[in-house]
Amino acid sequence: MADIGTIGIIGIIGAGQMGGGIAHVAAQAGYEVILQDIAQDIVDKGLKTVARNMEREVKREKIGTEQMQAALGRISTTTDLAALGKAQLIVEAATENEPVKLQIYEQLAPRLSEGAILASNTSSISITRLGAHTPRPERFLGIHFFNPVPMMEMVELIRGVATADEVYRTVEAVVRKLGKTPVAAKDSPGFIVNRIFIPMLNEAVFALQEGVAGVEAIDAAMKLGVRHPMGPLALADYIGLDTVLAVMQVLHGELGDSKYRPCPLLIKRVEAGWLGVKTGRGFYDYAHDPPVPVV
Ligand code: NAI
Repeated sequence: MADIGTIGIIGIIGAGQMGGGIAHVAAQAGYEVILQDIAQDIVDKGLKTVARNMEREVKREKIGTEQMQAALGRISTTTDLAALGKAQLIVEAATENEPVKLQIYEQLAPRLSEGAILASNTSSISITRLGAHTPRPERFLGIHFFNPVPMMEMVELIRGVATADEVYRTVEAVVRKLGKTPVAAKDSPGFIVNRIFIPMLNEAVFALQEGVAGVEAIDAAMKLGVRHPMGPLALADYIGLDTVLAVMQVLHGELGDSKYRPCPLLIKRVEAGWLGVKTGRGFYDYAHDPPVPVV
């Protein structure tokens, strides 16, 4: 069984926003990192983003140039899942789609090294159910990082029904080594943060839909009245409206309470392909600087 002392190589599946961020902090903490995705141009782009983010840290004098180069030197990229056979801990941060994740686990199973721990960064899928589709559910758990990974200080750790205590403790120690505070959450839809936070964003969209106030007024009210650093509609745009909707659908579907129903206006924006910052338009239009509300 892998323990903190034996974890030297961390494999990461998915070189998107989260996978890149996890690679960033793992390499800076001294781990060798193997970053895997389905196409070479995707892993190249992921690594380029990591390098750009580290350069920003150098400019802000958070790290030195040598530290950055050493960390980047510890990250290798691949499109071959078999390359992850060397890793003692594998964090799956692929697209939030259950069949996609299950297919990855199936392909990965014969390639896992003896004692390797497999973890998912899923925001909303049951850890117990995912783990049950792996050959060793006792060595599977949820490691839920927050975005942007290098900036956020907390990680939710989720045990599935079968997760072994020593696996949990090993990963808890790795998370501390990454400079993050681990917080234990039950394997329940949305875990802690999304269970509380995403319905608040959904509620902001209901308030907009019902004409309680306009986009800017809702955001200003929550910034000035509750001291949130960003308003809920701007934040929903930043997270991605498709992601916000997907989490609400999971909360609604799995908890079965109508208080979690996704707001129709949120659904319409997603149907229109207005997903927020990543598509240039959501509750704000990002073609303008500063962005202007979309009416
Ligand atoms: P993303 O869309 O930026 O990246 C996902 C990556 O997975 C893409 O590069 C895609 O090519 C890759 N991928 C898809 N199928 C694959 C396969 N079969 N093998 C290898 N790679 C594959 O998504 P993001 O935001 O990085 O999310 C990844 C995971 O992290 C999801 O489970 C999401 O729920 C979770 N998460 C996301 C957060 C966020 O704020 N975006 C926060 C916390 C967790």
